[in-house]
Amino acid sequence: MTSKLWGGRFTGSTDPLMEAFNASIPFDRRLWRADIQGSQAYARALARAGLITEDEARQIVAGLDQVASEWAEGRFQLQPTDEDIHTANERRLTELIGPVAGKLHTGRSRNDQVATDVRLWLREEIDRLQEHLRALIAVTVERAAAEIDWLMPGYTHLQPAQPVRWSHWLLSHAWAWQRDASRLADLAVRVNLLPLGSGALAGNPFSIDRRQLAEDLGFAGITPNSLDGVSDRDFIVEFLSWAALTMVHLSRLAEDLIIYSSREFGFVTLADAYSTGSSLMPQKKNPDALELLRGKTGRVVGALNSLLVVLKGLPSTYNKDLQEDKEPLFDTVDTLQACLQIACGVLSTLEAHPERMAAALVPEMLATDLAEYLVRRGVPFRETHHIAGAAVQLAEQRGVPLSALTVEDLKGLHPAFQEDVAQVWDYEASVERRDVEGGTSRRAVQAQIQQLRQWLQG
Ligand code: ARG
Repeated sequence: MTSKLWGGRFTGSTDPLMEAFNASIPFDRRLWRADIQGSQAYARALARAGLITEDEARQIVAGLDQVASEWAEGRFQLQPTDEDIHTANERRLTELIGPVAGKLHTGRSRNDQVATDVRLWLREEIDRLQEHLRALIAVTVERAAAEIDWLMPGYTHLQPAQPVRWSHWLLSHAWAWQRDASRLADLAVRVNLLPLGSGALAGNPFSIDRRQLAEDLGFAGITPNSLDGVSDRDFIVEFLSWAALTMVHLSRLAEDLIIYSSREFGFVTLADAYSTGSSLMPQKKNPDALELLRGKTGRVVGALNSLLVVLKGLPSTYNKDLQEDKEPLFDTVDTLQACLQIACGVLSTLEAHPERMAAALVPEMLATDLAEYLVRRGVPFRETHHIAGAAVQLAEQRGVPLSALTVEDLKGLHPAFQEDVAQVWDYEASVERRDVEGGTSRRAVQAQIQQLRQWLQG
């Protein structure tokens, strides 16, 4: 038991079940690189503060390089006493370079160490997530540009509402992801602060230059209060809520595509690469990639909830409860890395069927345009809405499509209807009339494409 980092004041040994219960090494080992990076910078800071010699710092840094290559090459041998990644690395360093390793932890605590490690680690993961998000947006934008001619029904309440461009629908998802990217960049600013030098809770007694340390590790600044520095997990909460919302967006895409790929809709066919079959029904091709995007949203929303519940009711500074921040964070990062790439793959290989989209357009989706025809002839909209409604009812009674009503039928409903009302029955014209910024016209959709392309380049 004296081999424990904190064993000095203990005489009894730890219950074996407690040993396993307490250990975070099974999951925090993935922080090995960040932990070594942080320790190397800390060794240099100790030397700058005159607490160890330049030579001792060199030995520590070189020893940690060796530990790093053991991890990188899968040669690192975990020992039963390796409670967490910090303990494991320091234990191994001691084996490699001897007692001088014992100087590394001077003025440092695992409390400021772990907070630093997680920030270093998450910073890199955020960079990768940003790349995946951008790739997803780029694929969507280029599809939108290539397929701008295609029209499809737009839905509200999942009921056919008005015709829109397929590209407009694609871009509606891209914009949500663009906001996700910008939210991620916002929160990355708060991840990128250095807690090291906060000690266990009360700060560092050896005049470590925290700003120099921050610069060394590429942090934009330092945390301003040591009590807060060791316990602040807001950046993880922010990250998890970013992730939850991003998953909600992916889930919405997935749900749209599950519906659009159903036999009844048939607007799209999911590539074989992202579908699976049934063990029983030979004809089945199931949209599993999409269902998993939708389903994994649950675990990410759960991760956010689980961390909030861990934090709720904690007193100030470090408490071991905080060790429970890691599994939800790691699982969420893994899930998002995968989901963003899968969504990108799905969208880049998806086969779309413009003829099926066109066939789903029905004249009733132009009832609003019929009302607008009268508006252009000076009839107040409330009235035109009512008249167009009466036209829908008349067509329904006759069992014909709305567009089959004659000019005489329509004139019977309002004298302002003229021969040219036939122009209303044109989906393309309807979409083109919505030429406002953010609308469905070709020009308006092209403007969105331009905006997103510019954003992608920036
Ligand atoms: N494994 C711990 C964690 O993840 C490291 C910090 C431990 N600190 C302590 N005082 N026991 O939070």
